[in-house]
Amino acid sequence: MKTTTIFIASCLACSVAAAEGDYRAEAIAMMKRDFKPRGIATLDRLAEDGVQAVCNRSGNHPPKDIAERLEKDQMETIRYPADGKYMGDWKAGEKLAQNGRGMAWNDKAGVPGGGSCYNCHQIGPGETSFGTIGPSLYQFGKQRGNGPDMQKYVYARIYNGKAFSLCSAMPRFGYVHALSEAQIKDLVALLLDPESPVNSK
Ligand code: HEC
Repeated sequence: MKTTTIFIASCLACSVAAAEGDYRAEAIAMMKRDFKPRGIATLDRLAEDGVQAVCNRSGNHPPKDIAERLEKDQMETIRYPADGKYMGDWKAGEKLAQNGRGMAWNDKAGVPGGGSCYNCHQIGPGETSFGTIGPSLYQFGKQRGNGPDMQKYVYARIYNGKAFSLCSAMPRFGYVHALSEAQIKDLVALLLDPESPVNSK
């Protein structure tokens, strides 16, 4: 009797897993079939890299030792500015943070887009709306300081946030070339410059 119950339970678990596997494969096949490359939006956008695969298959909770090892790999992808300077122009950074355009099929290759930071973060006072997927960045520099270590941290976070939190929802802006070195510096200034609206009262 006991054996039968276990048998049925495990069989149910098996078929659920199999069905989930099929849905994933089906969804990927559907995207590959229906997405057509146009302009700069080529099919490589559908390719899952190793880190995304680990996060997607583990519900964003991979085993700790694997997460730590892969975060170290992600850290090594970060290219810091050759001039050792992390702070650009906060005014340019403010425009970037509020600009969600870019990487559309009809954009020209290499034309810099926005950072769309407002989609996930509160940035400063006076915003009409902002998303809350990420923490509020209002008063960031005031609360965290703006010395060299903090500047480097913010640069790295924007370049590749998966170096700090493997399954972070934040896009890897530098790593995927969505933002240039100069643009990331402008965003570092936006978050850390005492004159920036992020750090205003
Ligand atoms: C799709 C959502 C999303 C977008 C877009 C996004 N972020 Fe994030 N960000 C997050 C999340 C979620 C976190 C929380 C930590 C984590 O999971 O990485 C975060 C964390 C951060 C942190 C670290 C905060 C801390 O307390 O140390 C900084 C700095 C940051 N984001 C800056 C930016 C900037 C600048 C932009 C625009 C270029 C941006 N983010 C765009 C989701 C996003």
